[in-house]
Order: sequence, then structure tokens, then C-alpha cells
Amino acid sequence: MKFTTTRALKGSVRIPGDKSISHRSVMFGSLAKGTTRVTGFLQGADCLSTISCFRSMGIRIENNSDEVIIYGNGLHGLKAPTEILDVGNSGTTTRLISGILAGQNFSCVLDGDASIRKRPMDRIIKPLTMMGADISGHDGTTLAPLSINGRRLKAIDYISPVASAQIKSCILLAGLYADGITSVTEPVLSRNHTELMLTSFGADITSQGCVASIKPADELFAQDIHVPGDISSATYFIVAGLLGHNNEILIENVGINPTRDGILHVCRAMGGNITLLNERNEGGEPVADILVKSSSLHGTIVEGDIIPTLIDEIPAIAVLAAFADGTTTIRDAAELKVKESDRIAVMVDNLSRMGVDIEGTDDGMIINGGRPVKGAVIDSHLDHRIAMSFAIGAMFADGDTVINDAECVDISYPTFYQDLEKLRQA
Ligand code: S3P
Repeated sequence: MKFTTTRALKGSVRIPGDKSISHRSVMFGSLAKGTTRVTGFLQGADCLSTISCFRSMGIRIENNSDEVIIYGNGLHGLKAPTEILDVGNSGTTTRLISGILAGQNFSCVLDGDASIRKRPMDRIIKPLTMMGADISGHDGTTLAPLSINGRRLKAIDYISPVASAQIKSCILLAGLYADGITSVTEPVLSRNHTELMLTSFGADITSQGCVASIKPADELFAQDIHVPGDISSATYFIVAGLLGHNNEILIENVGINPTRDGILHVCRAMGGNITLLNERNEGGEPVADILVKSSSLHGTIVEGDIIPTLIDEIPAIAVLAAFADGTTTIRDAAELKVKESDRIAVMVDNLSRMGVDIEGTDDGMIINGGRPVKGAVIDSHLDHRIAMSFAIGAMFADGDTVINDAECVDISYPTFYQDLEKLRQA
């Protein structure tokens, strides 16, 4: 797909539903007793993979675009799937569903695309095995396809080496089926949507600092859920709005949960003109509209505890840094190497093609920004966040850019290019 330089971006955009919250709404709704109605559901390919996995386990789910209705079958109501569960490209589906499947009374196999088959699953196999689960990767590895033979689980106190909401959520969900209180301690707090939403479904969860604990449950109870817009999707418009001259974009319906809002802190630290408007609470999650204007930007350091709150936003931050004056250093983000692509290597390769002075490190990257950025041929590696980040970079570069496999944005933001185009036309 070809991208050209833009004139000022104006107007407003309404951000589609949060990917993390949409996944959880289907999973918890399927395990609950009663009918869960979800509005604002993200119709991205990843969340559709979650719907299809639960349908394969006998859950009736109606998907009427903006409203998804889940006819839950109770905590012990899943049925053995007759086929391999297809998780597509979704790491969240794979890791969270594994925690649920470990505690069932049937066996199954999970598999996904080429990227899923490369992503580390030892991080969930290890704690689930400590809980007594029978889970293994293919051919003696810890990689997907995963085989899971469900059984009664033991409660554990797990100290996770990584701040990962996927690991934490996997263990907490397995903890629903365990014989006592299961707890997970993280080095730094990761996103807490599981804790918030499972509580509203009636689970007994406590969170204190970086420790989350869950008691086994008899039942979960259906809820009406409103999914706020995804701040990770909003990020591309925040970055677009800050670049160039005379841009002014109102980004509506953005979830600003403090475990997710690191992008706002970084943009402000770089000199970004960002105003939160109409702050409100929707279904237990804080939400705002965000007004963004072209700003004079400078480099910053992104490191430490803020990293889990912006882990998916780092490719977009790297693009922003390429246009900002001075040096931006990103550290403590080795997790980038095990996302949908190796996002350190892929950002270094693609930004270098655009003439940007960037160096990859073991746990991040160093970008010397503020020099001319030129259009180039970009390889998305089928990674939605890479494609969207470069679609923004391309609009402010000199000359045209071509992004290969640009349609992979379907994973988290199917209408991304249309929404971006509207701002160019306004
Ligand atoms: C997610 C957690 C994050 C994030 C992913 C979604 C979730 O992964 O990168 O896009 O919904 O729990 P980690 O928690 O493994 O960092």
C-alpha cells in the first residue's frame, strides 16, 4: 500500500474498542452463568479468534457488530472442542485461554499462525505445570501447537520474572479452578483489566501493588459490558496529531486506565500539546477524549516502571522520536523482541530505510531524531503495530512510502486507513 505526504490533519476520530478488554469480555462471559451483552466490542481479527475458540467449545455467541451477546454456560460448562482451537495471530487468546483450558475436564490442542508458533509459551507452561497442569508444546518444545489435558489444579504463589498481563491473567484464570488462593507477583504492575473485569463478574480477587490473588470460584455471573476505545489504537492519531504543522485532532472515546496511559506521559515529556477532555468513567474504566495539536518535540528517556504501560506503543514512539529534536533512549523493553514480530529489529531496519539514525540495543533502541526522514519501502512483517506506526511516519516523510502487507492492521484496527484518510480530507 502506498502512502504520501499529508497537509494538516484536522477533525475528529472515534477510537474502536479496546482489544484486551474485548478478549476478556468474551472469555469471562463464556464462563459466566447467564447472558453477557458487550457494546463497543472490537471487531478485529484477534478478538474474532477468541469468539471462534469459545464457539468451538459450545458457547453460543451472537456477533451483531457493535453488540456481542454471549450466552454463558457457567464455570464448568465448556464442551470439548472437536477440532484444533485456532487462535490466529493472537497471543492474548493463546495465553489466557490456556489458563482456562488447564482446569477443564477435557483435552484439546491450540494452534495459530506462523507468528504464534514462534512466540514464547514457556512463560505460561512453567507456572501452569507448577499448578499441576498437563500442558506441552509440539515435539518436546515449549512452542505452539500446545496440547492441554485439563485437570484439577493446585493453587500457587507465583513470582513472575516478566511484567506481563498475559502471564498474570493466565494464572489467575487457572486459579478459578484451583484448590486454594492463587497469587501472582509481577516485577512491575502490568495492565489490570482481568482483575477489574473478573471482579465485576463476581470473582474474589484482591490486588495490592504488584500482587494479584484469586480464590477459586463456584460461579461467575453475566454482566453488561461497555468496552472503551483502545489507547493503543489512539496512539497512532496522537503521534500523527503531534507531528507536522497546524494539525488539530480530537480523538474520542479513549480508555485511559493508568496501567495503559504511559503514551500520554511520554508525549508530554517530549513537549507534546495534549489535552484530556470530558473525562468520565465507563463500566469501571476511565475514559476521555484527547485533543492533540502539532508541537515542537524533543527527545526523552523511556525506561523502568512506565514500560508495561506503553509496551504496545513503542513502535509509534520510535516514529515520533525520529521527528523529535535530540536523542530518545528506550530501555527495559526486551519484551519487544517477543511480540507479533521482533519489534526492536523491525523498527531499526525500517527506520534506517527512512534515513533515521537509530541503533538497536538488547532491551530497546536509541534514536537521534530531528534529521530529514525520507519515504521508503517498509516491511510490516505482518505486524499490525508496525504497519500503523509507519503509516503515520510516511505522512510526514519526504517522498512516498510503500508498506508491504499493510492490511495486517485488521488484527486490531480494521478501519484504520479509512479513519486516517478522513483526517487528511478534513
Ligand atoms: C495484552 C498484554 C500485553 C500486550 C498485548 C495484550 C493483554 O502483553 O502486549 O497486546 O491483553 O493482556 P504482555 O502482557 O505479555 O506484555
